[in-house]
Parts: sequence; structure tokens; C-alpha cells
Amino acid sequence: RRTAILISGRGSNMRALLAAAADPAFPAEIALVLSNRADAAGLLHAAEAGIATAVVESRPFGKDRAAFEAAMEKELAAHGIGLIALAGFMRVLTEGFTARWSGRMLNIHPSLLPAFPGLDTHERALAAGVRLHGCTVHLVTPGVDEGPIVAQAAVPVLPGDTAEALAARVLAEEHRLYPAALAWLAAGTLRLEDGRVLLEDAP
Ligand code: GRF
Repeated sequence: RRTAILISGRGSNMRALLAAAADPAFPAEIALVLSNRADAAGLLHAAEAGIATAVVESRPFGKDRAAFEAAMEKELAAHGIGLIALAGFMRVLTEGFTARWSGRMLNIHPSLLPAFPGLDTHERALAAGVRLHGCTVHLVTPGVDEGPIVAQAAVPVLPGDTAEALAARVLAEEHRLYPAALAWLAAGTLRLEDGRVLLEDAP
């Protein structure tokens, strides 16, 4: 399945997906890396890896999210994209866009959802005093960070943790989890029942 990775910045999850997809047996082909910022560091890496890249700057569209998304749709169509993986993509998507890509778009979020949706998850996990934290890959629905959960990985919160230390521990798990979840989606092993994901024949 031809897959686009949407980024806004560093792109470390994008790198993990590219590395996994370099294996010919991986069920998704990364056919495009699309950024809403021309200065996203991940773009350089993708280009060096020989992956097609595109920039659709969101800023000029201001509050007109639908027009921004229409510009993105053009790029996605031009590259024959059938699946989307959001990887540090910092724009909220409209209901129309999420409906068009329903069941075909994943996001990775740095918390054990439904705890800590939104931003600053590691700071909030420390402030809440949780002993376990982690990351979640979910299907994207209109509600931000609310879609059906596909996969999760947990890490301990350790005494003396800073948000940076905790973020690094979670990020290592993100890099492991996201390729696995994308492989399930691309291989057609995900089924939805009552708004929840069933895994069929998942490894
Ligand atoms: C990750 O922590 C991801 O979970 C969140 O944004 C961060 C992106 O990092 N959505 P990177 O650009 O993949 O390095």
C-alpha cells in the first residue's frame, strides 16, 4: 500500500518507518513524505533516503484548514497515496479530511491514551505522578487523539525523571511501535468493531 508520512519537524518516527519499510517484506511502501513546514528537518533525511518529498506550507492558508487540506490532497493524489501515517504532524485536521481517510490514517501520540491527549504529555505525566507512561498508535478520527487504539507500549516513570528523560524513554518505544502498527494496517489485519480495533492474525 502506497503510504505518505506527514511531518512537521524532526521526523524521528518518520525515520523509524522508513527504516522498517526498507525491508521488501514490509507491507507498506513509503511513497511520499509531506511536510507543512519547509524547514522540517525530516525532509532532508527523506530526500537523502531517496523518498519523494513535498511541502505544503500551512501558514499561508491561515485559518482555512479545508483549503490547506485540499492542497495536501493534490499531492497525495499525485503520488497515488492510499494510507497516511501522521508522525509529529502538528496541524489539526478537519472532519472532512479525517472522514475521507477514515480507517486509512494513523497517528502516534506520546502517552498511554486516553490519558494525556494534547500537548506536553511528559510534563503532565510527571505532574500527575503516574508510574507508567508510554505511547499510542491510533486511527485518526475528528476528535484529536481520540481514535480507536491500534497499539500501545508502556515505560516506567523512574525516580528523578525529567520530562526530557521520560520523553527519550517513550520515544524509543515509539520507534518500535509505529512500524509494527503501520504493518498491521497495511497488511489488512485491523478490523473495527464497535469503534474498537480488533487484530486478526497479528504477529
Ligand atoms: C513524537 O513524540 C510523536 O509521538 C508526537 O510528536 C513527536 C514527533 O517526533 N506526535 P518526531 O518528529 O517523530 O521525531
